[in-house]
Amino acid sequence: MNHQELLLGVNIDHCATVRQVRYKDCEATNGGIIEPDPVFFAQQCELAGADSITVHLREDRRHMQARDVERLRESLRVPLNLEMAVTDAMLEFTLGIEPDYACIVPENREEVTTEGGLNIVDERDRVARVLEGLAHAGVIVSLFIDPEPDQIRMAAELGAPVVELHTGAYSNAYYSTTRAGEFERLKAGAELGHELGLVINAGHGINYVNAAEVRTLPHLHELNIGHSIVSRSLFKGVEESVREMRRLLNVR
Ligand code: PXP
Repeated sequence: MNHQELLLGVNIDHCATVRQVRYKDCEATNGGIIEPDPVFFAQQCELAGADSITVHLREDRRHMQARDVERLRESLRVPLNLEMAVTDAMLEFTLGIEPDYACIVPENREEVTTEGGLNIVDERDRVARVLEGLAHAGVIVSLFIDPEPDQIRMAAELGAPVVELHTGAYSNAYYSTTRAGEFERLKAGAELGHELGLVINAGHGINYVNAAEVRTLPHLHELNIGHSIVSRSLFKGVEESVREMRRLLNVR
């Protein structure tokens, strides 16, 4: 692989969302008539060139189930990135799975999807403890934070190797007058993080339109994209949807 390329991590949570809408009361997570299978979806993403697969095992298990994560761990060839809340239960689960990467995210019961970055200034001690436990097990940890200088400095102070900058505010502002300001905030955040030695990932709300601008952020290593790819797969199939996004991220 050309290491100058911007990597694509595909978040497959919403494949599981569709399954749960119909089959949440079934004990099994796959097989027979239970569909769609997120593991099969992930395999199609791999074939199409996804660089990693991301899943978020939420406390309320609204989409991914523990069994999905276990099956992914057994079958994926590209790295598995597990998004997790800062709780003892998730730390224990993650240490049992040993994913390649873990991304620490906030989790509010009421939100439809992850709405804001984790406040690692306020949550410093809890984050430090989870970070240490995971780093000790060889898991590469990223912190999902807003592109705020205080948050970025704290990530570096805590010794996190990677940050994922939250692009949600920018994505929501895409068709409004605040877009340029949001983009500048991300740009400044990426610059600062890079200066402090952090690997810069980004994600949330990235789609086939805004990807053209997001990809021009400085020092980007990987983008994590879920909803737009899962949605487009309904019309174009998984392989074509992943291929198209990966191409878009690396247009010269
Ligand atoms: N990155 C993180 C940390 C997330 O929590 C999510 C949403 O689950 C994403 C990326 C992907 O967001 P979207 O589904 O809007 O592409």
